[in-house]
Amino acid sequence: MGIQFDSKNKIFHLKAKNTSYVMEVVRDGYLLHRYWGRKINTFHNSNFLQLLDRGFSGNPYLHKDERTFSLDTLPQEYPQYGNTDFRKPAYQIQQENGSTITDLRYQSHSIFKGKEPLEGLPATYVESEDEAETLEITMVDSLIGLKVILSYTVFERLNVITRSVRFLNEGSEELKLLRALSMCVDFRDAEYEFLHLHGAHVKERHIERQPLRHGIQSVESTRGASSHQHNPFIALLRKGTTEDFGEVYAFNFVYSGNFLAHAEVDQFSNTRVTMGINPFDFNWKLEAGESFQTPEVVMVYSAEGLGDMSRTYHELYRTRLVRGHFRDQERPILVNNWEATYFDFNAEKILEIARAGSKLGIELFVLDDGWFGKRDNDKSSLGDWFVDHRKLPEGLDDLASKVKDMGMEFGIWFEPEMISVDSNLYREHPDWCLHVPERLRSESRNQLILDFSREDVCDEITKRVSDILESVPITYVKWDMNRHMTEIGSASLPADRQRETAHRYMLGLYKVMEKITASFPHILFESCSGGGGRFDPGMLYYMPQVWTSDNTEAVSRLKIQYGTSLVYPIVTVGSHVSAVPNHQVHRTTSMEMRGDVAMSGNLGYELDLTKLSDEEEKIVKQQVAHYKEIRKLIQFGDFYRLQSPFEGNETAWLFTTKDKSEAVVYYFRVLAEPAAPTTVLKLKGIDDTKQYQVIGTDKVFGGDELSYVGLSIPANIHGDFQSYVWHLKACSE
Ligand code: DGJ
Repeated sequence: MGIQFDSKNKIFHLKAKNTSYVMEVVRDGYLLHRYWGRKINTFHNSNFLQLLDRGFSGNPYLHKDERTFSLDTLPQEYPQYGNTDFRKPAYQIQQENGSTITDLRYQSHSIFKGKEPLEGLPATYVESEDEAETLEITMVDSLIGLKVILSYTVFERLNVITRSVRFLNEGSEELKLLRALSMCVDFRDAEYEFLHLHGAHVKERHIERQPLRHGIQSVESTRGASSHQHNPFIALLRKGTTEDFGEVYAFNFVYSGNFLAHAEVDQFSNTRVTMGINPFDFNWKLEAGESFQTPEVVMVYSAEGLGDMSRTYHELYRTRLVRGHFRDQERPILVNNWEATYFDFNAEKILEIARAGSKLGIELFVLDDGWFGKRDNDKSSLGDWFVDHRKLPEGLDDLASKVKDMGMEFGIWFEPEMISVDSNLYREHPDWCLHVPERLRSESRNQLILDFSREDVCDEITKRVSDILESVPITYVKWDMNRHMTEIGSASLPADRQRETAHRYMLGLYKVMEKITASFPHILFESCSGGGGRFDPGMLYYMPQVWTSDNTEAVSRLKIQYGTSLVYPIVTVGSHVSAVPNHQVHRTTSMEMRGDVAMSGNLGYELDLTKLSDEEEKIVKQQVAHYKEIRKLIQFGDFYRLQSPFEGNETAWLFTTKDKSEAVVYYFRVLAEPAAPTTVLKLKGIDDTKQYQVIGTDKVFGGDELSYVGLSIPANIHGDFQSYVWHLKACSE
């Protein structure tokens, strides 16, 4: 591990666990990318850059007589615009004179142990200095006094490199940041597939993969949230890469707002990958003396396929992104009243559901939307965070105490970033929402967005939420956000800073979340944005679990949870059993299958438990008891995908403890098929040398047999929507 600088050849060699990353300073300070991939001992320039005279690739002024030196043909580390590189730059700055040309050159660097926090932004962290090493390279444009600090951290025990960039205006004129991406990698070929996670509300994080082609392929969000539509994650895969084999280069943006992730294959079949805040509709004024910090990108390299990439992200995020008391705690099994009652409830109904839950062994009751203001539907009251005494005459405190008396914890729903036009808050402060003067304000789900770029707005909402959390014995909060940004503008910003609003909103939101989560460390926070519309590492830094999707239907969930597992740890994946016919897709599946899908994440129930039949009650009771037995393994073990729902009718995955002494295997079959092939599941992640007993039977198999010969699916699984589970425990030697 470590970061080395060869001062003679001006080469930086960064080493994480099994990966190397190499850069070189050439000529008068140009910083080139030289290698990223499997770890090597030393770099001696075996892949030397062939300097060729390429037509229409010009030469920077100081090298105008050297027709073989062009920034257009060389792999750049943080490419700029305007001086011979015609690919998309990583950043762009406008001067007072209107010019958008900059010319950054290496000035100095520093290497230090550990990793510094990013002020005001979520980021991965270390707990001891020995876990990581950081390199900061200072680049300058001396003409305008621009300083750009490129920051790289390598993690000792993981194949992870994190990157971010800081812009400092040390000149005397005002600069405008038009583009400020957090990283760039110029790969020297294009023999990759581009993988990303696309989706929609109730259909999040579906995997799509296609070969790179010449030109630009990108995913982005312009919605003011990381979004259901595209996750801030992309990966380049060597052709033929599978779960277990092949090289993967992965990029994930630690940010919850607008992003751009972009791969450009150029005329010579090199591939440029960049990622960062979406430059679309972004413009940041950097006055003399001011600085701008970009969010972080987490880059993972895997030589062993997608499975290894996922386990690297899972380990890093579970242990060094998520923070606080709940990071290492088993998460409570909850029941949420949303799909049971929607807005139509009173204290009695809530207590009935809670009582039924407590009898089944459920540990936490969550009161969802509708407990405040006069919220009988989604048309009013957001912002009025005061209890509705019509529905809860004895108040929240009384309700929470009664739930606690049943032996359960009490949790509550908020949507702090929103405001209803029909609310006292809006009547008092109509200018507190994002809007553009004179223009009408578009609504979505009948609501507007509070302007979190304003300190007064953030303070008032922090106070309103905190007042409830202080006065009621609440141990869980679901933090929701149910629309995307339109008419983005802030009443508190001058005209030349209006295009900063969306990013300032994110900074305001992060500040509020930091303050509230730090003030209430005993509260477990779950983020939500109409389900999984903000399932990103930015949110995970503040809130250790996420409501994965508003779609609770078991078959749909196979794809949603499989796609989510590519990047995000299982413990963060909120997953509930709901009623049938399902409310989103109207499908009916068995209680067993719904339970098995939900137990493959962070288990909860979201249905009227008072309406369960005796048989269903029995099954739920068993599920709850079983999950308590295995949840440590599910939530904190290692995860292996065995069969993909994107490739066929069957899905399978496996969880093991870190020491491989125990594993749980889930198999799902969507439709019964005539003349179907017989499936044998080859297990992964277990120990070849151990003997495993299948719990509930007297069968014992060697780990090698389970891995190489495989497990047959029992023949007595009949009909559609089936699941099967094996619980394996290593026999004592
Ligand atoms: C959207 C969430 O995803 C749902 O679970 C529920 O909390 C509703 N909002 C409430 O309005």
